[in-house]
Amino acid sequence: RTIYLKDYRAPDYWIDRTDLKVDLHEGQSRVEATLSLRVNEAHWTPGQPLPPLELQGSELVLEGAWVDGVALGADEYQLTEQGLVIQAPSARFELRTRCRIEPQNNTSLEGLYKSNGMFCTQCEAEGFRKITYYLDRPDVMSVFSCRISADQIRYPVLLSNGNEIDRGVLEEGRHWVQWHDPFPKPAYLFALVAGDLQHVSDQFVTRSGRTVTLQLYTEPRNIGKCDHAIDSLKRAMRWDEEVYGREYDLDIFMIVAVDHFNMGAMENKGLNIFNSSCVLASADTATDASFQRIEAIVAHEYFHNWSGNRVTCRDWFQLSLKEGFTVFRDAEFSADMNSRAVKRIEDVSLLRTAQFAEDAGPMAHPVRPDSYMEISNFYTLTVYEKGAEVVRMIHRLLGAEAFRRGSDLYFERHDGQAVTVEDFVRAMEEASGIDLTQFRRWYEQAGTPRVTVSDSYDSASGRYSLHFSQSCPATPGQVSKLPFHIPIAVGLLDAEGHDLLPDSTRLVELTEAQQTVHFEAISERPVPSLLRGFSAPVKLSYDYSDAQLAFLMANDSDAFNRWDASQQLCVRVLQRMVPQYLEGTPLKVDGVLTEAFSALLRAPVSDPAALETMLVLPAEAYLAEISEPVEVEAIHAAREALANHLAERFAPEFEHLYRDSQLEGAYQPTAEHMALRSLKNAALGYLARGSDAGVELAHQQYRAANNMTDRFRALATLVHCERGSARALAKSCLQDFYDNFKNDPQVIELWLSVQASCQRDGALERVQALMAHEAFDAGNPNKLRSLIGVFCSQNSIGFHSGEGAGYRFLADQVIELDQRNPQIASRLVTPLTRLRKYPAARQQQMREQLQRIFTHSLSPDLYEVVSKSLQ
Ligand code: ARG
Ligand code: ZN
Repeated sequence: RTIYLKDYRAPDYWIDRTDLKVDLHEGQSRVEATLSLRVNEAHWTPGQPLPPLELQGSELVLEGAWVDGVALGADEYQLTEQGLVIQAPSARFELRTRCRIEPQNNTSLEGLYKSNGMFCTQCEAEGFRKITYYLDRPDVMSVFSCRISADQIRYPVLLSNGNEIDRGVLEEGRHWVQWHDPFPKPAYLFALVAGDLQHVSDQFVTRSGRTVTLQLYTEPRNIGKCDHAIDSLKRAMRWDEEVYGREYDLDIFMIVAVDHFNMGAMENKGLNIFNSSCVLASADTATDASFQRIEAIVAHEYFHNWSGNRVTCRDWFQLSLKEGFTVFRDAEFSADMNSRAVKRIEDVSLLRTAQFAEDAGPMAHPVRPDSYMEISNFYTLTVYEKGAEVVRMIHRLLGAEAFRRGSDLYFERHDGQAVTVEDFVRAMEEASGIDLTQFRRWYEQAGTPRVTVSDSYDSASGRYSLHFSQSCPATPGQVSKLPFHIPIAVGLLDAEGHDLLPDSTRLVELTEAQQTVHFEAISERPVPSLLRGFSAPVKLSYDYSDAQLAFLMANDSDAFNRWDASQQLCVRVLQRMVPQYLEGTPLKVDGVLTEAFSALLRAPVSDPAALETMLVLPAEAYLAEISEPVEVEAIHAAREALANHLAERFAPEFEHLYRDSQLEGAYQPTAEHMALRSLKNAALGYLARGSDAGVELAHQQYRAANNMTDRFRALATLVHCERGSARALAKSCLQDFYDNFKNDPQVIELWLSVQASCQRDGALERVQALMAHEAFDAGNPNKLRSLIGVFCSQNSIGFHSGEGAGYRFLADQVIELDQRNPQIASRLVTPLTRLRKYPAARQQQMREQLQRIFTHSLSPDLYEVVSKSLQ
């Protein structure tokens, strides 16, 4: 069944208060819900019959229902596929229900479930209906209280949203705690945790002088891995006060780490629940990348307290209202805490590989979708990352000050409300006086716009002109598109590489299908630097020569565009090697690229983080996204050949970089140290390609490392290295690594993923063997993602080899998983949905597997993705 935005209708009833009593047991737990209901006066006139009350409920056993204290007889309610229907006695009344649930058997990890013996919840988007009968939609906001009771020994810690207001002891070794959350909220923000947990505690004083208690709860074995998250939280709280004027509102803010979690984390009011891998870190067990991810996700969930909780979504079509905005907020936070350019490069790389691929696939949808079958399928890169790009464009069009006035107006005007993307855009328009009518198409039209640019120069008049044209490919359900309002940041470089424009960059606003922009008083024909900072999520093309790209790579004042020029130059060279591979001729690396890298590597290192990003060649997934059809083996061979060429040609330079980037003393996850480590490890990768001495260096680094970044990067270098001398070392280091860290799930995820991404022959067999290893657990989404997810999406050679064996393997896994965890099944299947990108034979093999999946009885999640892929 498909749900449409155009069918939105406010609810017939509001729930002013929600009082829950949750009795936790090993077998059957009980949930008693007392709801204060009030008819929506907009839908009812006094004297008319009241509309029926239709509550959602799923996998609940109803034990009883009472209206205003009187038990309902069997003929006074109906249980349907969707839930519970009753006739209202009056415009205001109280409904009490009592249900039985079995959290220990809940493998979907939505609703109330168990993870390593602790009870926890995940209610977004529609999980609350698995806890009790309710109006499970975000526009129904209610004041919640929750009384949890459980065995005192097994579950000494009982948590829910808001403030603890009372507690007591019961018979038979049980106890209870009563929580109350004064802020009205939709059910998707409800949370409950019960377990034998320890916590670290800290404090934050808000700028108006209130003291907030901060607590991070984990299983006792992880208590030493909490500091980084708490520090990140405090930085995020300060940043939101300074940059957005937003203060925290409760007296306590809690985070809980759980090992079994479908996503990264969840912003439940006052009680965020995190996937352990997105919150726990120590120098010995977490990489720099994971330290940075934790800082970003802790901030993201914290920022939701305003962009999501205080102001929430009217319906799930508006998901990007909170997610796009909050991703933009967390990206700016990370940029302020670390290297702004590198953060931008990472985000754009993700967008260009994965989000552009989504835009080009069967599940393509606008930032604000207008229909869905299963909302869980729409927690996508389009809603999150492209949604953040859309907010970033508003920020650029308005400027920082007007944007801040807009966000102030938005938060003030809609505090306590469930609103729409339109409300957000309107606040931005009103605060700035800027018309965003055409801009709204970014929310409505799916697909990645193409912008083609050419230029002309008249030396007599000094006029330089850029001619733009834009278009957007058809996507499912949207055949033709109207022109977008596209901000394009442009710089012009003179022959010395200096900016010619006053203020260096001019913002061109493209609004027509064809448009020409003039620049006057330009003294020489410039080299244009286009789309600086990736000012819009588009595919832009301009017919640069190789030499011009090398020139931009060396001279552009925009750090992002320097990186982009180096990537585009590599892409050019790689794309010329693909046909060479297919024709069986030797692969040739163009001289311009070698010279450009020579200049890059011989210049003094001013910004190690930026240099590192330029040494990382475009990912195979990105090369696949920009090719049609995708020649998997050719892309891989070309990229390997280029990397090997650089390794050989610049061995002395990489050697110097490696030596010069060594750090002394204890590990510190500071931006500066991370930059040096990443540069050093990029150099190590090339050294190990280049010689057996380089392999030995990786082995030495593995053994001497005093932190997980250096240890893991050395391990990955050995595992991925094609040299014969690396084989035995890789094997013994993998074993050593496992022996040392087998009790640490986060480290074992790394161990699984490094093997899953190894493209050497026999990858599928290695993955299958690992599935039988004690380290693997098919009930844990992190393990599934690290092994099966990484193999199918990052090991192109392995996944596509063996005459469709990889496709068959994935289909088998997905079919089985769908019975237990539909959300994860429908995500893991993604690589098969890209079938149209591949040559006919592979496409047919992929289709056969999708068809085979489709013959099974599927969850709505998997049904939607597979049926759309087969259309
Ligand atoms: N709101 C959470 C976050 O982005 C994600 C929750 C996703 N839940 C889901 N069922 N897909 O921060
Ligand atoms: Zn979010």
